[in-house]
Formats: sequence, structure tokens, C-alpha cells
Amino acid sequence: MAMIAQKAPDIRVTVVDMNAGRIAAWNSDTLPIYEPGLDDVVKAARGRNLFFSTDVAGQIKAADIIFVAVNTPTKTYGVGAGRAADLRYVESVARTIAEHAESDKIIVEKSTIPVKTAESIKTIVGSNAKGLKFEVLSNPEFLAEGTAVRDLENPDRVLIGGERTPGGEKAMAALVDVYARWVPRERIITTNLWSSELSKLVANAFLAQRISSINSISALCEATGADVDEVANAIGKDSRIGPKFLKASVGFGGSCFQKDILNLTYLCESFGLPEVAADWTGVVSMNDRQKKRFAARIVKELFNTVADKKIAVLGFAFKKDTNDTRESAAINVCRDLLAEHANVCVYDPKVPAAEIVADVLGQGQSNARLTVAPDAYTACAGAHAIAIVTEWDEFKTLDYARILGTMPKPACLFDGRNIVDGAALRKLGFRFFAIGK
Ligand code: UDX
Repeated sequence: MAMIAQKAPDIRVTVVDMNAGRIAAWNSDTLPIYEPGLDDVVKAARGRNLFFSTDVAGQIKAADIIFVAVNTPTKTYGVGAGRAADLRYVESVARTIAEHAESDKIIVEKSTIPVKTAESIKTIVGSNAKGLKFEVLSNPEFLAEGTAVRDLENPDRVLIGGERTPGGEKAMAALVDVYARWVPRERIITTNLWSSELSKLVANAFLAQRISSINSISALCEATGADVDEVANAIGKDSRIGPKFLKASVGFGGSCFQKDILNLTYLCESFGLPEVAADWTGVVSMNDRQKKRFAARIVKELFNTVADKKIAVLGFAFKKDTNDTRESAAINVCRDLLAEHANVCVYDPKVPAAEIVADVLGQGQSNARLTVAPDAYTACAGAHAIAIVTEWDEFKTLDYARILGTMPKPACLFDGRNIVDGAALRKLGFRFFAIGK
């Protein structure tokens, strides 16, 4: 919304939330989300045509277009628990819109939702007694965290789905006009509602599948002496495969990939396609195995015992340039090491200590074996092994000679992201291990 406000000074954008603390944070100097470049975008438009407010009812009345961007967490109860999306917030917003609207509206689904959700929203808002007309569009978001501003500024495509009726076409045209202020027309795709809703889940499933595929090959590389980066480079030169998203890692994380694939498998089953569901479940299982494999390799190379040994975990966010830890591989790595009674010391440049502890152990739990360090040098001091789990740039340029001096010998370094120069570290005296090498 901040990007729309920045690019279209004539459009008044108001972001509303019931949570007053959140809105206050968006109105303050410290935004609640860390994202490179976001501060500038918000500051450019805030107070001009970008506003943050808790007046949900009033802003529903005032708006022509309403973007629904509520969370759709995985259901934790009842049918589909653990896989299906919990749509209670989507439903509640639809009801709120129906209750407060006094004129026709275009409702845009921005949240990632299962196919056919637009139908539910339409039915709920359509049942208003005021004779109002609502058009429902789907406009999934493809930005990646850490590069959100860049992705929004220069998207590969903007996808807008709507009903193929005169009203639907008109609503789609209105939304196309918003994005056309800065996105080239040929990159704005319009489809029917169901194609748009499904495309988001499918895009994430395909991206996750690529990572899982290269990660499964990384195990074979380790066993054979092949180098997974060399393999990825060689296959990526094939224009049919392409070079992106082939970086082997300790496993993918983030709020989208696993959740969306599970959601997709649940959808497949709901539509009577259990075999298709099983195929895609495989992508998640491959990822789980990769996370386990990394921790298991650490234990194995430390002579099959890490009990009472200090292990430094560098990085906790699910990738660099974000403070988001949802589904981060670091969580699993820490848990597996703690289960072997290692003393785990974590450092991350952006994730607060309390969050690291809560993510690994659960809210309110503590374990003397898990500590958080204020910097990488403190985390690594005296450790038997270092595990790089997130690819933060600062880990590429640490003074590893100084670090090695503090470590019991033989000192091990496990690069879960293949970001440091293994040959140089071996020369220094590290026993060095990297994914797929
Ligand atoms: C993803 C999609 O990219 C985005 O289009 C969608 O809207 C939301 O989900 P995000 O989760 O923010 O975005 O991050 P992304 O950069 O896709 O990375 C996901 C995970 O895969 C990270 O843990 C990342 O480290 C890992 N990854 C990515 C790899 O392990 N190897 C790669 O080659 C690329």
C-alpha cells in the first residue's frame, strides 16, 4: 500500500488495523517491519496520501477499493488442521465490509488464500440488505521478504483475477489502472478469479520444488565428490532450466513456501485428488530431510557426540536482510543440537534474543544450554564448531583467524549457505564442511 501511495500521489491510501499498537508503530519513526528501503517509501507518502488508522468502519465507508490483507494462518484445529488455511479473519473482514459499506465497492483479495475463497467473500458481502454491489478481485502478492521494495517497484508481473462479467471486467480495469502508474502494461496479467488464486500457490510450490530438488542432489554431491554449486551452475546455463533459485541450502524457510504447499495439498485432497496431494507433500518432506541432514552432519563430524560442546549458530532469520524467523531452518537445527545436549549459542544481526529463545523452545520456556550472543565473535568464542545458517553478508567477512584462535582444536565450520571461501578457511586450519561439498 505504501508503494501504491508513493507511485500514485492522487490516490488516497489508508491502511487500517484493529490493533492500535501496530498502527501507532506505522505512524512512528520505527516501523514494525524491517525491510531495506521501506522507511523511505513510507516517509515519502505518509501524511500526504498515505495514512494509518484504527477507524476500520469509517475507512470502509470512504473507500472505493478495499484490499483485504489479513493473515491466513494454518488451521490448528478441526478438519484440515496443520494444512488448511484458517479463513476466519477473511470471513470476519467480509462481514465487517458488508456491515459498514454505504456504496458499491471493489474488494481485492491480497492475502494468500485457497482457491474459491472469492466465492465465500462474494456470498457474504452479497447478502447485505442495502442493495449494494461488490466486485471481488484476486491480486496475489509475489514479493519476497528482504527485497520487497525492489520487487514491488519492478515486479516480474502483477496478477489480477476477476469475474468475466461486465462488472468484473470494469473492476479489473480499475485495478489495472492503479498498477499501470509504474508497472509496464504487458506485465499486468488479467485472468479469471480461480486461475489467479491458484497461481500464487503454484508459483510458490514450483519455487520450493526447485530448491528441494537441488538440496536432494546436494546429498549425492557430498557422497560422490561432486560440488553442488558447480552442478547448479552447469544445469542453470541450460536456458530451459535457468540460473535462479538453485542455491543449495540448509533448507528453505519463510512464511510462504511450506504453508502454501500444505495448503495446495489440502486443496488437492478436497477436490478428490489424493495422488496429486502426495506428490507435492514430497517437496515438504525433502525440505524436512535437508534440515535434519545438516544437523546430523554436525554431530557426525564432531565424532558423533556434541554433548556439552559449544556450537555457535550464525544467523537465525529464514534468510538475510529480514528479521522474520517463521519456519526458519535455524529453529530445527538448534532443536536437533539441543536434543544431543550441545550448548548452542546463537547470533543474528536482526532477530531479538527473546524471539530466538521462544522460537526454539516455545513461549516462556528456557534451557540453560541455549544462549544468544550480542555479536558473532562472542557466539564463536571457545566453540567446537560454527554453523552458518543464514547468509548475512557480515558472515562472509568475519576475522576467522581471530575466531579460530579461541576455539578448541580441531575446530569445525559448517557452511549451511555456501557463502564463505572454504579453501581459505581450510588453509587457516578449520575442518570445513559445506552443503553439497
Ligand atoms: C517467497 C516467494 O519468493 C515470493 O514470491 C512469495 O510471494 C512469498 O514466498 P520469501 O518467503 O520472502 O518469498 O523468500 P524467498 O526469497 O523466496 O526464500 C524462501 C526460502 O528459500 C528462504 O529460506 C531462502 O533462503 C531459501 N532459498 C531460496 C534457498 O534455499 N535457495 C535458493 O536458491 C533460493
